[in-house]
Amino acid sequence: MQTQFTSRFAFLMVTAGAAVGLGNIWAFPFVAGQSGGSGFIAIYLVALLVLAAPAMICELVLGRMGQASPPTALARVKVENTGKGPWSLFGWSGLAVNILVLSFYAVIAGQAAYFGYYAFSEGFSSMQPSAISALDNGFKINMNLSMLWTILFLGATLTIVSLNITKGIENAGRYLMPSLFVLLIGLALYSMSIGNAKAALNFLFGMDSFSLTTGVFMAAVGQAFFTLSVGICSLMMYGAYMGKDIHLPKAVSWIVLMDLMVAIIAGLVIFPLVFASDVTPDAGPGLIFMTLPLLFAKLPAGDAVATFFFLMLTVAALTSSISMMAPVVARLEEAGLRRITGAFIVAGIAFVLSFMTILSFGPMYDYYPLEMFEATAELNMFELLREGINNIYLPLGGLAFTLLVGWGVRKENLRRGFNIEEGPLFSILHWIIKYLTPFLLLVMIAGIWL
Ligand code: PFF
Ligand code: NA
Repeated sequence: MQTQFTSRFAFLMVTAGAAVGLGNIWAFPFVAGQSGGSGFIAIYLVALLVLAAPAMICELVLGRMGQASPPTALARVKVENTGKGPWSLFGWSGLAVNILVLSFYAVIAGQAAYFGYYAFSEGFSSMQPSAISALDNGFKINMNLSMLWTILFLGATLTIVSLNITKGIENAGRYLMPSLFVLLIGLALYSMSIGNAKAALNFLFGMDSFSLTTGVFMAAVGQAFFTLSVGICSLMMYGAYMGKDIHLPKAVSWIVLMDLMVAIIAGLVIFPLVFASDVTPDAGPGLIFMTLPLLFAKLPAGDAVATFFFLMLTVAALTSSISMMAPVVARLEEAGLRRITGAFIVAGIAFVLSFMTILSFGPMYDYYPLEMFEATAELNMFELLREGINNIYLPLGGLAFTLLVGWGVRKENLRRGFNIEEGPLFSILHWIIKYLTPFLLLVMIAGIWL
């Protein structure tokens, strides 16, 4: 097994770095926008606290107890009450889903990197709003361009994973989070001063636009799992590296809080711009790329800030993409492959799969593979992929981990795994993990099929 993180702070920053990424800054605004705002956000908050965060604790503790790559860790965990069970299957499917997530994540991250490059080389400052929204479209239609930036991003991920520079990642995490916070808060204040802050706040938190449908509900739960990276064994690896002295529930609380703040602040950057422009809240995956340049075009020294912002966004995406590739590479290493070979294999597969996304943004935007079912009739390949993973697979993975930890692991061993004292905190947490979270998830998953 690898070296442990050097400190508690490092573990916190690296795990937060894996959790905070495109999910917060790209997905949260666009999914909240598509889902009508405040109703989505209300469910998202509840789902984050009662479903995704407890599942995150379980996933991390499994890694901590198993001390190996996910399938191996899952097979190793001492299951005292429920017998062996098919748990390591969730390790294998989790690895596969990691590659699938990476395949669309890399396309979006590539676009973020391209926008940074564009801000640096051309600049947004002299652009008219119409030219700005054409920029997002132009990138998507030009498949050579999106392929190139996808390859560059996968190449960067591959390099970091194969060099195995834990130290480097620790350092990136250390500076990334604080700078991201400062930058986002500044941008949110500026955006609210030049955009329509009132409409944005009302959309995000007001009662006027509050609406709930099954679709909104599922999107909110899915986003809660995705944003915390829960359900696909990506975090399980970090659990294995985590030092012995870490109070797991406390660490998770910090990570959830940071993750939530970044998402909300990103919303406060984007929506004042949306309501002061021709862009509609339900514009979809291009939302941040259509609105952010509007802000940078007006901001003093906007192109420099834009370059820095998109660079930070790319680094934030990198610290997440590393966490998707690393568990798969760790398993391949256990099978005797060299680290670099494993990383090339994973990046290669992710690149081939990325065409589902690149084509969905380009010529095949209106190809609906599951047209025959009412629920999926108007979802293209990218939407099927993203929504299927977020809204169905991740909650299922989370359910498996809470069941395994809540019912399979002896209470005393679990307490030691969490590294907390006997007492009310542990009792409540154990009750949540054993009953509340799996019960709600089961009801939800059963509801999907009815
Ligand atoms: N949590 C990451 C984000 O919000 O961008 C996305 C993610 C990373 C999802 C790693 C899943 C994963 F395994
Ligand atoms: Na996140």
